[in-house]
Amino acid sequence: MPVESGSNRRPETGAFFQRDRTWHPAPLTPNYKTSVLRSPQKALLAFDNTLSELSGPVFGQAMLGELDADLIHNFARPGESAIGERIIVYGRVLDERGVGVPGALLEFWQANAGGRYRHKKDGYLAPLDPNFGGCGRTISGDDGGYAFRTVKPGPYPWPNGPNDWRPSHIHFSIFGHGFAQRLITQMYFEGDPLIWRCPIARGIPDKAAIETLIAALDMLATVPFDARAYKFDIVLRGRRSSLFENRLEGN
Ligand SMILES: [Fe+2]
Repeated sequence: MPVESGSNRRPETGAFFQRDRTWHPAPLTPNYKTSVLRSPQKALLAFDNTLSELSGPVFGQAMLGELDADLIHNFARPGESAIGERIIVYGRVLDERGVGVPGALLEFWQANAGGRYRHKKDGYLAPLDPNFGGCGRTISGDDGGYAFRTVKPGPYPWPNGPNDWRPSHIHFSIFGHGFAQRLITQMYFEGDPLIWRCPIARGIPDKAAIETLIAALDMLATVPFDARAYKFDIVLRGRRSSLFENRLEGN
């Protein structure tokens, strides 16, 4: 049987705070069927962070394409655009102290407005949008801020239970200042009733933790007659070392 909880982890001595494993979803959540086979079968082993995990990767704006943060256009034919509700997703990448993380690489991918991914294994009957690829990336600014625009993804059914639907969501991968700061998560949308019926979201034990994954509709950040805005802040593992006023780190 998979290990439900517990491990032989020692307290971490590395540069970053240890993850709070009661806040994150448990690897084994049987109502999310895939987790039964892919959760660890044995207790985890702990290793201290290595130098390469602490010091890299480093990303620069030069690696970005002009339309990487515009999913409405980045796979569209010239002069055309993706179909769907046009939205802006924006927020800040923060560490556990609430300090902005600049230079973080954010990658995001999502289904189209009908709830279908551009992927050969996605056989959902919703049509593909020839002008929508469904992925993009950006790098956070000096205060940890980021933004991109896209169309709101549709919900889709998935083969878990007889009638399980994923709420509208955007997948995120974030690289902070070290591999130890990497986070892969999902963003949901305020007001979606499917969130609270989703076996994946419900794999998170604390309702307050789920709420941190729900982007708030922000009618003050819209582009009038173009796009609504959703605000989504992301918290990465912070550094354990104290911050000093004369140190640039964490600015
Ligand atoms: Fe998904």
